[in-house]
Amino acid sequence: MKQSLFTILQNRPIARNTMELVLRGDVSGFTAPGQFAQIRLDGFFLRRPISLCALEQDTLTLIYKEVGQGTRLLSSMQEGALDLLTGLGNGYDLSCAGDRPLLLGGGVGVPPLYELARRLAARGLRPAAVLGFNTAEEVFYADQFAALCDLTLVTADGSAGQRGFVTDALPPSGTYTYFYACGPLPMLKAVHAAVPTSGQLSLEERMACGFGACVGCSIQTRSGVRRVCKDGPVFRKEELLW
Ligand code: FES
Repeated sequence: MKQSLFTILQNRPIARNTMELVLRGDVSGFTAPGQFAQIRLDGFFLRRPISLCALEQDTLTLIYKEVGQGTRLLSSMQEGALDLLTGLGNGYDLSCAGDRPLLLGGGVGVPPLYELARRLAARGLRPAAVLGFNTAEEVFYADQFAALCDLTLVTADGSAGQRGFVTDALPPSGTYTYFYACGPLPMLKAVHAAVPTSGQLSLEERMACGFGACVGCSIQTRSGVRRVCKDGPVFRKEELLW
């Protein structure tokens, strides 16, 4: 974990209630896709956790949804500096991917899969990906994923891509070696039940401290009580008691 100041380079809407924030600063705290940052906002006691979406040498892209006062304040900031804790949590382990990994993302769970897709592509792999959103207005990064993956897009109302949920559009078993998932809890539970291979799932949990001090994010796993913020947010499928 590292604390440092980042300069806002860009903060723009990319879909309904969805913002893309590009920051410049010391990104060396991040070691794996799936990790997250905690942003301090003036007037708010708790920092806001946001997953890493893309990483360059000295820039960081974060995608967040405007869901409350804190993220609304953040969305209004077009310049200045932000105080970030970076490199939080345990991210995805790429060594398990095999030669044909499958990425499964839902809504605001899609961003962490983007840096993962970039790193898998850098290893010469072309993953399959199924990304799900509620409706066409909420879709983002479809082109970016399509450049790196064999992409299937689904929306719950059928307004973009196929109609349905991520688990309705899974490729036939045997065509992928491993899965990586991130999304809302009902989606992750459905994925956990439906996908036959091993995989890793990134859990969303309300977080206070974000670095293992308050135990507010604890869950029961096969290997005992684990903190989502520090022991996760990425957990292996076999660890989860679902
Ligand atoms: Fe404090 Fe996880 S949020 S221990």
